[in-house]
This record gives sequence, structure tokens and C-alpha cells, in this order.
Amino acid sequence: MKVTVVGAGAVGASCAEYIAIKDFASEVVILDIKEGYAEGKAMDLMQTASLMGFDTKISGSTNDYAKTADSHIAVITSGIPRKPGMTREELIGINAGIVKTVSSNLLKNSPNVIIIVVSNPMDTMTYLVHKTTGIPKNRIIGMGGALDSARFKYRLAEAMEAPISDIDGMVIGGHSDTGMVPLTSHATRNSIRVSEFLSAERLQQVADDTKVGGATLTKLLGTSAWYAPGAAVSSMVQAIACDQKKMFPCSTMLDGEYGLNDICIGVPVILGKDGIEKVIDIPLSDAEKAKMKESAAGVTKTNGLLEL
Ligand code: 2OP
Repeated sequence: MKVTVVGAGAVGASCAEYIAIKDFASEVVILDIKEGYAEGKAMDLMQTASLMGFDTKISGSTNDYAKTADSHIAVITSGIPRKPGMTREELIGINAGIVKTVSSNLLKNSPNVIIIVVSNPMDTMTYLVHKTTGIPKNRIIGMGGALDSARFKYRLAEAMEAPISDIDGMVIGGHSDTGMVPLTSHATRNSIRVSEFLSAERLQQVADDTKVGGATLTKLLGTSAWYAPGAAVSSMVQAIACDQKKMFPCSTMLDGEYGLNDICIGVPVILGKDGIEKVIDIPLSDAEKAKMKESAAGVTKTNGLLEL
């Protein structure tokens, strides 16, 4: 099982590290345009192999896509991250060209590759890959909801002073500071609705903190987060590589599900060997439906900035 990670920056390197440590892939290729950077990150990671106990072979490439040939899965993290005060949507001008070029180069060398898009604005970048490659929609997956749901669970555990392992929760909708839809009505602590433990006001604060989880970290770090994004996308890679049939909220092209068409936005899907194997249409409250519709309008507006 060969996995390519495009972009040797913090998110890409963290993703490669977590994939290696989980040891389910035989090979991980990290590719970057910066001379020697991917090779250096790969070598540094390989020098942890005896310490971390993995056999995954990690290698690096400076923009030589031939080295990514026959990849089963490819993760696109390349592009610029946001700075404090920026929205993800402001990155579109630079990142759209990068993502278009990267996805084309990946497919030239791995015609059957499953592509996971991380670069922001992620929902629009996922849509761009659809429109420019034309590959089947099950093979184009946007990573946002898995990360946002992890942040949601973190905030819920914090609010209830509970272990995160007791918490279940999901965030759907657009991966944007205003477009996320934390499903507070579905969230549970050991199968008990969280509304049994938290007031409506406190739950709203949890939802609000979740939506700006990325921006909160960007303000603290001076750049976008990387550990949780890397961990989120590595879990999706593992679900596909190991055919786990796991449910994740992922950005996928909708054809009528949730009353939406011609848009990539976060909804629950089943990830397995074929990528997105099924879209799960869950019951939403009227308020959640309205938020989803508003979120979709925001993603569609950003999609309109693309020069297709
Ligand atoms: C985040 O939310 C980078 O979009 C990513 O941290």
C-alpha cells in the first residue's frame, strides 16, 4: 500500500508521521517543491523508525512525481496556510492553481489514485479537483469534518470535565469559521445526550468555540494548526487503506443528498477501500437543516471565485 503526501509542511509531515507510526502502509512518499525539504523530512522521520517501531518506508521527492507512481492514496496539503486574522477563503487565489497542478500530476502517475484534499479553502478545493480531473466522485475526498469533529469532542469533554474517550460528536457543513454545523443534538457522553449534562447556553458556547477552532490556534501559533489536521487525515487514509468502513464527516460532491447539488460539503460518509463508499443521510433538526443550507450558500459563493 503506497501513500503519497504532497506538501512537506507541518500538516503533511504530521500526516506522514502518523501514517508511519500506525504502520499500515508499506510506503509513504512525501513530495514538495522546495529543494531537499521533503527528502529531509522523510529522512528525519525514517530515523525515528527504530525508536517508534514501524517498518513503513518513507521517502522524499523534490517535485518528481514519477516517485509517486502507483500510489493508492494521495493527500494534498500543499499551498499556503492562513495567518492570524485571515479566513480560509482568502487563500483561494494561490491555492487553487497549486491544487489543480498537483492533482493533475498525481493522476498522470497514479491514474486510479484516491485523492484526499486538505488545502484550503478545502470544500472549494475539493470541488476544483472534481471539475478539473473528472475522476469518479468516490475517489475525491475533502478533509475538514474529521478535524472539526475532533475539536468539537475536545470542547464537549472540556465543558463536561469528561474524558474525550467518553464523547461522540460530529460536525458537518462547510469547513469554515462560519459554515460549520456542530450536531449538538446528536452528541453523546457514553450514549447519553450531552444536553443532559450541559445547558443550552453552554452547548452553544461549545459549538461557537468549535467553529473557530482553527482560527483560535492560528492566533496562538501564528500559522495554521498541524497536529490535529495531520491526525485527522491520517485516520481517513487508514480507513481507506484498511477498508475499515468507518464513518467520517467528509467533503464530498452531493447529488441531491441533504437537498444539495453540485457542491462539495461535509456530510457523514463511509470510508473504505473504494474511498467514499456511501453518503449517510441522517435526520437533522429544522435548525440544523437551516444551518446546513446557509453553510452551503457560503461554500457555493466561494466556489464562484474559481476560474474553471
Ligand atoms: C484548520 O482548521 C488547517 O483548516 C485547517 O486548522
